[in-house]
Amino acid sequence: MTQQVGSITDRQAVVLDLTVEHSEQAQSEAAGRTADDAAFRADVLAGLARTPKSIPSQYLYDTIGAKLFERITEQPEYYPTRTEIDLLREHAASIAAAIGPHATIVEPGSGAGEKVEILLRALDRPRGMVPVDIAREQLRSVARTLSSRHPGLKIAPLWADFTQPIELPPAIAELHPRLVFFPGSTIGNFMPDMQRRLLRSLAELAGQDGALLIGFDRIKDETILIPAYDDPAGVTREFELNILTRMNRELDAKFDLSKFRYEARWNAGDARIEMYLVATEAHQVMVAGELIEFAQGEAIWNESSHKYDDARIDGLAASAGLTVDRSWSDERGWFTLALLRHKT
Ligand code: AVJ
Repeated sequence: MTQQVGSITDRQAVVLDLTVEHSEQAQSEAAGRTADDAAFRADVLAGLARTPKSIPSQYLYDTIGAKLFERITEQPEYYPTRTEIDLLREHAASIAAAIGPHATIVEPGSGAGEKVEILLRALDRPRGMVPVDIAREQLRSVARTLSSRHPGLKIAPLWADFTQPIELPPAIAELHPRLVFFPGSTIGNFMPDMQRRLLRSLAELAGQDGALLIGFDRIKDETILIPAYDDPAGVTREFELNILTRMNRELDAKFDLSKFRYEARWNAGDARIEMYLVATEAHQVMVAGELIEFAQGEAIWNESSHKYDDARIDGLAASAGLTVDRSWSDERGWFTLALLRHKT
């Protein structure tokens, strides 16, 4: 059973120019938008034709999805964000020392940009920062905040899908060494073969003299994991159901949200939480002009969130030609930040 993540699109990465008004840049950005819509449609139809039905999880993060995810991170049961931020704060000095001076940070999936701020404050004379994200408005606002807080820092916001190869703007590409910062255990959202491929391409992005700082959520008891991914306030449920709303809006789909329930399952063998939307009754739905059949109890596999132990982290690093140079974990052993470097 595989879930495809990443799509084939001809969308180019766009470096957002913060000095021009929104409308002036609209044209180059609009070209990206059109390619995006086509990719969404193609990926959804391909995913819904598969068994089990699935949708690449990157599509959960539209503007509404990104906001709902921010609300997930505020839920008391959702421990990863809080645990990682505490870990970063507590070990900022030792992490910064291990990274070294004059680093340029590249952050794929920069989101709200809160974590990199902790790193930037601790680092010794950082040179540049490249936030990379598909949520354009959030990216723009993060870049503005960064440039007002760090006047000397070269900031190049890249509006791009980091599951596609990232090409750095020339002014950044010449800066060394680079640190690829990939927190949040976002790596765990991908299936194992895609994790390897992604890590390999991020290692290339870091360069031979560069490093990667990656966040890994650790394997823990199911009684902690399930509520973190199925919070009692129902925010995760709303986040997962939002993909149906997005398809209704952007693909002229006719999903009836009341015919699906949300379910988070712990798959111990593959060490991952699997997130599903389960059809509560047999029915058919029009999606982008095609009729899709749902049996009662049939699920759409929306998302996976892999969990790790040291052996899994070491193995993944090794499979991408990397080694764990140093790592930091919290006292409970819930989360690990690992600094990876190329094998020499
Ligand atoms: C954004 C991938 C880190 O797996 O914990 C959280 C996504 N989805 N709750 C995670 C998510 C539902 C999240 N990551």
